[in-house]
Amino acid sequence: MSILNNRRIVLGVCGSIAAYKVAELARRLTQGGAQVDVIMTEAAQQLVGKATFQALTGRPVFDDMWSLPEHHMVEHIALAVQAHMVVIAPATANTLARIATGMCDDLLTTTVLATTAPVLCVPAMNVQMYAAAATQENIAILRGRGFSVLEPEEGPMAEPMVGKGRLPEPETIEGEIRSLLGKHHGALRGRRVVVTAGATREPIDPIRFISNRSSGMMGYALATAARDMGADVTLISGPTSLKTPSAMTFVPVETALEMRDAVEAACSQAHILIMNAAVADFRPESVHDQKIKKNGTDGLTLNLVRNPDILGELAYRHNLFKVGFAAETENMLENAQDKLERKELHMIVANHAVATMAQSMIQVTLIDRNGATTSLPQQSKQQTAIAILDAIVTRLSPYIST
Ligand code: C5P
Repeated sequence: MSILNNRRIVLGVCGSIAAYKVAELARRLTQGGAQVDVIMTEAAQQLVGKATFQALTGRPVFDDMWSLPEHHMVEHIALAVQAHMVVIAPATANTLARIATGMCDDLLTTTVLATTAPVLCVPAMNVQMYAAAATQENIAILRGRGFSVLEPEEGPMAEPMVGKGRLPEPETIEGEIRSLLGKHHGALRGRRVVVTAGATREPIDPIRFISNRSSGMMGYALATAARDMGADVTLISGPTSLKTPSAMTFVPVETALEMRDAVEAACSQAHILIMNAAVADFRPESVHDQKIKKNGTDGLTLNLVRNPDILGELAYRHNLFKVGFAAETENMLENAQDKLERKELHMIVANHAVATMAQSMIQVTLIDRNGATTSLPQQSKQQTAIAILDAIVTRLSPYIST
């Protein structure tokens, strides 16, 4: 189930021109199953109408402490108490300053002062206002008090100016919200998870390479689901056409050798490794400096050498739960069982390579160290990712200390 499901999120909207982008955030959170209570400051209402947020969240929008519906009147603090999270987006310099000084002269600042839920501030403002010492000091104060602050992005601003101050995309903010909710409520909070994804590319010359059909979709779904369950995630990925997920450490690699180094570095601190990448088993023995020419030749023979088995060669380490994938075209369960033992894994995920590579749906069978086999239904890679992580969580405790 989504980490957003049945969560109460207070979304504070302030008067920055980026307020219009937050309508999309409100829609995404609501669609994800959250109950979104929007509080708009007076300035925000100059830029976006209350009706927009009302329609998108299906709930009343709050603005003024003194004009709440009657049943909210005595308990306007209820918003603060019931919230699982408060998000202020866009957070203006003015609102950040008022929160930093503990002011509570409107509904939003009162809610922030009265809540014990995690608070995420997403500043968006003019470049100079963001860089101003006062704003930076206020942000440092808020961070020091345990608030999360998502850095603005650099780029063109509403006024003819380029710099740091833009509101991140709604998808990025949603990722941050999911991650923070996971860190408070998720089954993997406190765990460090490394996921590999996609295919490796083994260069032949400066232009050409050997690779395979892996799209990276399954690995990205696993990394995102682990993040939503509260884990600190490192996603090590071969080149893909997918959007980099937010709120995790992303390590792009190309070759199997690069992936091995990245996995070894990330695993020294990890609790769980999920090796989903389709690592090329072979690489050209030598890489040509220049583009290979076809002139005067009828064919070309490439000498290939074995790549290291990243998962198999990873030194056994207490406190590291290792999960592999077996993408097979025949004898799926026998081959998967053999890999589980050979690579000393705690669990392996078997699937049919041709039916699942680059597809959005997948059917997998989980085999664990004790020989227990669980077949999951054919479902989306996102649903499968959650089911795999749930299976990992239930098997973790004998191997990983808390
Ligand atoms: O050895 P095989 O490719 O059949 O096993 C698949 C599993 O091993 C996957 O989890 C894959 O990520 C991992 N693997 C690896 N290094 C390789 C080849 C595969 O870690 N060179």
